[in-house]
Amino acid sequence: MRRGPFKGLLPLGLALLCFETILLFSGSPVAAKRQQCRLEPHGKQVALQAPTNTGVGGDVPNATSTATATNQQSTPAAVKATGTASSAASPTPTPFNYETQKIRGVNIGGWLVLEASSPTNLPTADLNLTSTSVQPWITPSVFESTGNTNIVDEFTLGQLLDPQTAQNILTNHWETWITEDDFAQIAAAGLNHVRIPIGYWSIPLNSSSTSQSTSTAPYTTGAWPYLLKALSWAQKYNINVILDLHGAPGSQNGYDNSGQRTSNPVWALNPSNVSRTIDTLKFLAEEVGDQISVLELLNEGAGFLGSNWASTIRQFFGTAYGTVRSAVGNDLNIMIGDAFLGVDSWTNFLTGPSGTGVLMDFHEYQIFSDPELDRTDDEHISFACTYMQSLGSFAASNIWTVVGEWSTAVTDCAQWLNGRNVGARWDGTYPGSQAHGSCQGFTGSSSNFSQDYKTFLRKYWEVQVEVGENVNGWVYWTWKAENADEWSYQKGLQGGWIPQDPTNRLYPGICS
Ligand SMILES: *[C@@H]1O[C@H](CO)[C@@H](O)[C@H](O)[C@H]1NC(C)=O
Ligand SMILES: *[C@@H]1O[C@H](CO)[C@@H](O)[C@H](O)[C@H]1NC(C)=O
Ligand SMILES: *[C@@H]1O[C@H](CO)[C@@H](O)[C@H](O)[C@H]1NC(C)=O
Ligand SMILES: *[C@@H]1O[C@H](CO)[C@@H](O)[C@H](O)[C@H]1NC(C)=O
Ligand SMILES: *[C@@H]1O[C@H](CO)[C@@H](O)[C@H](O)[C@H]1NC(C)=O
Repeated sequence: MRRGPFKGLLPLGLALLCFETILLFSGSPVAAKRQQCRLEPHGKQVALQAPTNTGVGGDVPNATSTATATNQQSTPAAVKATGTASSAASPTPTPFNYETQKIRGVNIGGWLVLEASSPTNLPTADLNLTSTSVQPWITPSVFESTGNTNIVDEFTLGQLLDPQTAQNILTNHWETWITEDDFAQIAAAGLNHVRIPIGYWSIPLNSSSTSQSTSTAPYTTGAWPYLLKALSWAQKYNINVILDLHGAPGSQNGYDNSGQRTSNPVWALNPSNVSRTIDTLKFLAEEVGDQISVLELLNEGAGFLGSNWASTIRQFFGTAYGTVRSAVGNDLNIMIGDAFLGVDSWTNFLTGPSGTGVLMDFHEYQIFSDPELDRTDDEHISFACTYMQSLGSFAASNIWTVVGEWSTAVTDCAQWLNGRNVGARWDGTYPGSQAHGSCQGFTGSSSNFSQDYKTFLRKYWEVQVEVGENVNGWVYWTWKAENADEWSYQKGLQGGWIPQDPTNRLYPGICS
């Protein structure tokens, strides 16, 4: 996940937008981690089919029009078909029709890519980030186990630990953080998708797949077999997978969730990095394309870094789209992101007939700036409702649109969300922030959550679900977090503020 609520600020005007752009750049929690090696998939069971008629204006139903907009003739194209003979061990997945069904899902955050959180460009005078390490907030224990406070992301984890120690720590994490039982629970919660972040360093392409460097140093490799396991669990529990390239060579945003926290990300500045990324996507499409429903080309490219970044990302999406289509045909849906530029910057991009089976990934958080934290509970709700219109109209005349990251967190209080030893804007312990209130009772274990707070969490969950289902669906960030229950879908189910049935509503018509 990122911390940039860039689009959330659009209505506030250009001046504030620019201001928030800086905040966005300077502060973003999350980190990623990755590795590689191989394991035979237990069968390439799922054949995917992409829509042939998507991306054309008007064919994306919103919540109210869905019932009448169903076009059964498009079904074979819009459906993820089931596949081949080798699936004896698993039930046949139900085809998913992106045209008529709603994506309801969770991100598998903090697993194959570690989530640390960290402001990338905060002034060192304020934070001294060169000497302050960042704790990942989804799984702080992984970072604590390194015993090294300079380890702030997967890059430094590989760089600063001896290889065997790094391998042991990460292997233990991959083995334990997500297991088959999580997929069983996700399915039992009525969810039909997971989005799985992965970093380029975990994807075992060799020199036969790219003319670019295949070095992954200093990253620790070995996550690939765990991805393959996850794909088999997903199939077993009839869950569709959005495979999300979360970390690209050179870093596409400088966030630690790209693998490397840096104020100088270089992905877009070096054509070799972009080429390698395209080769990596082609490899993914060929190796596992028949086991996933959607391939997301790049998470959160930093379009706000300048017009060169924005144009490189746009060109990259076009080229990568064509490469994946050439490699595996239309039987795989392809997801792009708005690159923090707002969905309206992508009007007419990869719509039909130049694009088919394309989805837009939009992320929404309202917590990474003081103006957003200033909102009352009701204002958070009504702000979320503004996306009904903006996303709805984009989707209606462009491509399928998904809110691919969002959460019920309404503060930045989660421990180390902003980086180790870095406080929260919410309670004013973050440099330069104003206090909004105490963090007590807003994060950590839900045993400290008040009934009022849980009531709000439910309402905030519900409004964002409504916004997502007004377009093509939603993917919550995140399934699990060690010590931040307000971010955890699993804890929300257990604590009762997220319903066991995601179609359940306590506040129907919340935006009307
Ligand atoms: C940042 O940390 C380093 C190492 O601890 C220290 O030498 C330096 O003085 C600190 N800089 C600031 C601006 O606090
Ligand atoms: C590269 O990987 C492929 C499998 O993806 C393998 O068949 C091939 O032998 C490998 N080539 C080299 C040069 O290692
Ligand atoms: C990114 O590109 C630069 C410049 O070509 C290159 O030095 C660097 O190795 C690339 N990074 C990766 C991870 O391949
Ligand atoms: C949803 O569809 C209905 C019926 O076509 C339409 O009246 C409404 O404006 C649409 N809403 C959005 C947000 O596009
Ligand atoms: C509840 O809050 C108190 C006061 O902040 C804290 O000491 C305690 O650890 C919290 N309990 C849990 C289970 O998080």
